[in-house]
Amino acid sequence: MDKLVIEGGISLKGTVTVSGAKNSVLPLLAACLLTNERCRIKNVPNLRDVNTMIKILRSLGAQAEFSNGEVTVEAKSLKSHTADYKLVSTMRASFCVLGPLLGRLRKAKVSLPGGCIIGLRPVDLHLKGIMALGAKVEVQGGYIVVEAKELRGASMYLGGGFGSSVLATDNVMMAAVLAKGKTVIESAACEPEVVDLANFLNKMGAKIKGHGTPCIEIEGVRHLHGTDYHVIPDRIEAGTLVLAAAITQGDCVIKGAFKEHLGALLDKLNESGVKIEDADGGLRIKPRKTLKPVNFTTLPYPGFPTDMQAQVMSLMSVTPGISVITEKIYPDRFMHVAELHRMGANIMREGPHAIISGKKSLSGAPVMASDLRASAALVLASLVAKGRSEVSRIYHLDRGYENLELKFQKLGARIWREKE
Ligand code: EPZ
Repeated sequence: MDKLVIEGGISLKGTVTVSGAKNSVLPLLAACLLTNERCRIKNVPNLRDVNTMIKILRSLGAQAEFSNGEVTVEAKSLKSHTADYKLVSTMRASFCVLGPLLGRLRKAKVSLPGGCIIGLRPVDLHLKGIMALGAKVEVQGGYIVVEAKELRGASMYLGGGFGSSVLATDNVMMAAVLAKGKTVIESAACEPEVVDLANFLNKMGAKIKGHGTPCIEIEGVRHLHGTDYHVIPDRIEAGTLVLAAAITQGDCVIKGAFKEHLGALLDKLNESGVKIEDADGGLRIKPRKTLKPVNFTTLPYPGFPTDMQAQVMSLMSVTPGISVITEKIYPDRFMHVAELHRMGANIMREGPHAIISGKKSLSGAPVMASDLRASAALVLASLVAKGRSEVSRIYHLDRGYENLELKFQKLGARIWREKE
């Protein structure tokens, strides 16, 4: 296993480019199962999760090749409708092959994803949606087994106790595009990655309207054809790079940071006093000595993204004053708190709330990554902490960030990878 070693205290300077969006690429790759023709997806980051999804497509009988940021998928004939436990258990997002397998083969057997460190990962909304389309659902030996003689369009409400669901919206959309008749999804997820998937499906010949709003309408078609597609930039990586500039009081241009995808985050950072300007093809973050503490609550898009909660907690840990973070999407998503304590952060957890009493500085320490975004938060804290930090188990980081340490090195950080 690898670790990252970081000597903190350097203000980052320079220009960095955001990679393609992990949370867009994964459902896009699954959607390639809906046609027997070739699809080419460009601007694909080289991530563990992307390679896991490619393995799943191959296990189903699709041909999939990944080189130079481009994935070519040809699901001419599928040899299996089963996504096996070994692969799905390493990446919950694999569950999004359920919809396309049902759409293409009218049957699917996908391992239940199981929980993970950030909380329970229920799939009740996924199943509610595909049952509305006429699928029969059974749980057999840890697998969800679905079958439909025919898929018929239907109207459904996909909101749950924590609001809309990104991958449930994706799964239902991918099953509905080849169903007979019209499907209406109320309380659909509005994330940019859902919009990216709908745009890809429409390029394949689907008839989807309303994507990006809480009401998506899908007119079923008989056939989808292959197409080429360029993935949107990763708004969570962009947000993480913006935070790296802000926390080190640096001066950086982040190319590919789309303001329209980062509204809630930029609003909070502006409130805190971070200097953010437009720059050609992205954003420029300029140094600001003192920031103000801010409070925020994570919500479905366009609300404050839960995937940026840990990273902003690191910034608030070195922003003197009291800030309150409320996590409404994954109430247990606070594994990073204990590790930030090891760096001297003053954070109190109270249920879904974290109360941070920001300090002038943190001190470097050996810390352990527990999940993808917590790892990013620990790297951010290490960039500003006094002295040396070591972040272990960074395979978590490699799931969702492409060469993050190289990007930070380019901006002047003293950060390198070592074997644990
Ligand atoms: C997507 O996960 C993202 N992953 C997550 O990013 C992200 O945190 C999450 O959306 C929320 O924005 C991918 O896109 C691959 P949800 P998803 O279904 O779709 C509850 C990262 O760090 N829920 O939108 O699995 C659920 O428990 C990852 O990149 C149900 O109750 O999340 C959660 O509380 C982590 N029933 C809330 O809804 C369901 O059937 C939102 O989850 C499904 C979800």
